[in-house]
Amino acid sequence: MSTKELAGRLKKFGASATGAIHNKVNELQQAGQQILSLNVGEPDFDTPATAKNAGIEAIQTGFTKYTSTNGTAELREAIAEKLWKDNGLQYRADEICVCTGAKQAIFGAVMAICDEGDEVLIPIPSWVSYTAMVTLAGATPVPVLSHADYSLDLAAIETAITPRTRALILCTPNNPSGAVYSEESLRALAELAVKYDFFLIADEIYEKLIYDGCRHFSIASVSREVRERTVTVNGFSKAYAMTGWRLGYAAARKDIIKAMIKLQGQITSCASSVSQKAAVGALRGSQEEMNRMVGIFRERRDFVCSRLRQIPHVSFAQPHGAFYVLADISRYLGKQYQGKTIITSLDMAEYLLDTAHVAVVPGSAFGAEGTIRLAYANSMEVLAAALDAMESALGRLE
Ligand SMILES: Cc1ncc(COP(=O)(O)O)c(C=O)c1O
Repeated sequence: MSTKELAGRLKKFGASATGAIHNKVNELQQAGQQILSLNVGEPDFDTPATAKNAGIEAIQTGFTKYTSTNGTAELREAIAEKLWKDNGLQYRADEICVCTGAKQAIFGAVMAICDEGDEVLIPIPSWVSYTAMVTLAGATPVPVLSHADYSLDLAAIETAITPRTRALILCTPNNPSGAVYSEESLRALAELAVKYDFFLIADEIYEKLIYDGCRHFSIASVSREVRERTVTVNGFSKAYAMTGWRLGYAAARKDIIKAMIKLQGQITSCASSVSQKAAVGALRGSQEEMNRMVGIFRERRDFVCSRLRQIPHVSFAQPHGAFYVLADISRYLGKQYQGKTIITSLDMAEYLLDTAHVAVVPGSAFGAEGTIRLAYANSMEVLAAALDAMESALGRLE
């Protein structure tokens, strides 16, 4: 069968680069190759017992049927409490939609807000999926370069605004850079959104993974006016190591949430009932396991950064959140190994995988050519071995 018979919209964006690398690593591992996987964007910790036990109880008591499309009232109330307590955001349970992961929540928000011909600003480097989601909605992604330290470049954002600008998608703490946007910069961004009348989709999935006394600030908390034009997205994958439970949510004014529910009702019906019970357990139970995980991530971040500083010609902006470091390896591009020239960050990722058995994600996937993303969601032993192998592989380039 020819690909001509498949839908044209699929040709407008590429497959997830992170997913493609994940699959290649899986193949190599299945073939018996030991791979040091610094590519994976998920915590290597177990889901907290509070969530697991609530999930097990849901199964054992037969809470295994469809829930309402927007999620159980119990979970939406627990989320509303969390948003008030942690973020100073006041949302009623009917202004929240529970989704199968933050990913689906962002897609729902994009589909609810954007039409053909709209433009959506995306500060880069950015997570791989925003561009594809905007494209699928028929809108045009407009990448806007951030400052060298990956903070928001508000002047560049303002310059990129046109009468077609419909929304901006922001992610703080940021994947892939680990940058945490300051309250001041978020207030200035909110001012632009009000002045030029566009929506904000705030991806706060890494909110809890934050270090160095930095404080996460939710842009929707700036004012009533800003709240009305913001969709706040969060989930359970990162803070509670629940990637496989597939649970996230969006909070926004009621008409946006109603549109998202309409879409979800035709596509997924609802998130898993068992996962929703587990999420209530995660939110209402002890936060000790999460706090312990954050402490360990901080130690690993410190280790990876200090180790990277020892590698000649590699530079990076110190990440303050999430579990990634975006390392600038551009000074190695143009060098050769066994007659083959490493030209792009993708070449570099392939070189590191093939020769050092270290898996990283090329920065080109995030709009940051010349860099590679290292995830420190790994044990210290794996991190140490990976950085040793990477250093010697870089040293072999001529
Ligand atoms: C920035 C960002 N947003 C959203 C997601 C999706 O999270 P979920 O597992 O809740 O769909 C990810 C996952 O990698 C992410 O990195």
